[in-house]
Amino acid sequence: MTAYTIIPGPNSTGLAHGLGRELNAAVLEVYRKVFPDGEQYVRIGIENIVKNSRYLLVASMYPNQDRSFVEVLLLANALKNNDVDDIIGIITYIAYSRQDKMFLPGEPISIEAILKSLYSVGVKDLITIDMHSPRSLEFFPGKSINILISDLLVSHALKYLETPIVLAPDKGALGRARFAAEKHGLEFDYLVKHRDRITGEITMEPKELSVRGRDVVIVDDIISTGGTIALATGMCLRNGARRVIVAASHSLLVGGAVDKIRSAGALKIVTANTIPVGSSDFIEVVDISGRIAEVLREAF
Ligand code: R5P
Repeated sequence: MTAYTIIPGPNSTGLAHGLGRELNAAVLEVYRKVFPDGEQYVRIGIENIVKNSRYLLVASMYPNQDRSFVEVLLLANALKNNDVDDIIGIITYIAYSRQDKMFLPGEPISIEAILKSLYSVGVKDLITIDMHSPRSLEFFPGKSINILISDLLVSHALKYLETPIVLAPDKGALGRARFAAEKHGLEFDYLVKHRDRITGEITMEPKELSVRGRDVVIVDDIISTGGTIALATGMCLRNGARRVIVAASHSLLVGGAVDKIRSAGALKIVTANTIPVGSSDFIEVVDISGRIAEVLREAF
């Protein structure tokens, strides 16, 4: 059996220790400080390094995307310069994933820059969770795995809902909804947006199914400002849905996102610990360390 050693990177202490328990792996200490000019310093407690093991650099690039990215680069470089050149990056949230093409001339493909940088510092294998567009992983030169977790989120939502319809907020997100729905034998669909040409008002409705009298779970990758999911929730309820739960892999919850979603009428937000989120009556956090361990055992 492969032995693993875990390096807890930015925003990932809880998940790193959870994964450590799942894999029976040592979790090394990381010492951090910030110099007076704002630059970061890291040191990995390599005195506890386990010989002949594979090294898992566990990190999330939210919050503080830029700082967290640099910390990941520094940790990978520290490993490489201490004779570890077999690093598996478990980066549960990869920042800049939404700029995955040049929308306008003169723009970068930000995700390409991020993925190639990770590889160049020694992250030769990459596992991530519910990448915004899984095709972006083609920019990563090494082996990469995108783990879908919408089935786990829907499984949690099923504690509160009766045979819900699993809805994606747009066609691009349909894969996530389908994956979860097929695992649980549920119906799925996606919402289509209409813009009134005269008033400019945006409305949404499911492509095929009716939500009238039904429970609904809306599945998305990211909740940032909450605008998308709040609009989708409101539309479902106005169309007669009974209860709506919002399920997202990465809850950034910027600004007033939580209030916006609550005001739209959602029963709960179900999310995962891909980034640190505090749980409450309204926000329930699903631990994904078991799923990551499962994928690691199968893939490596
Ligand atoms: C968009 O393509 C993404 O999948 C999410 O729907 C989006 O990032 C959510 O952003 P917000 O919460 O700000 O509407």
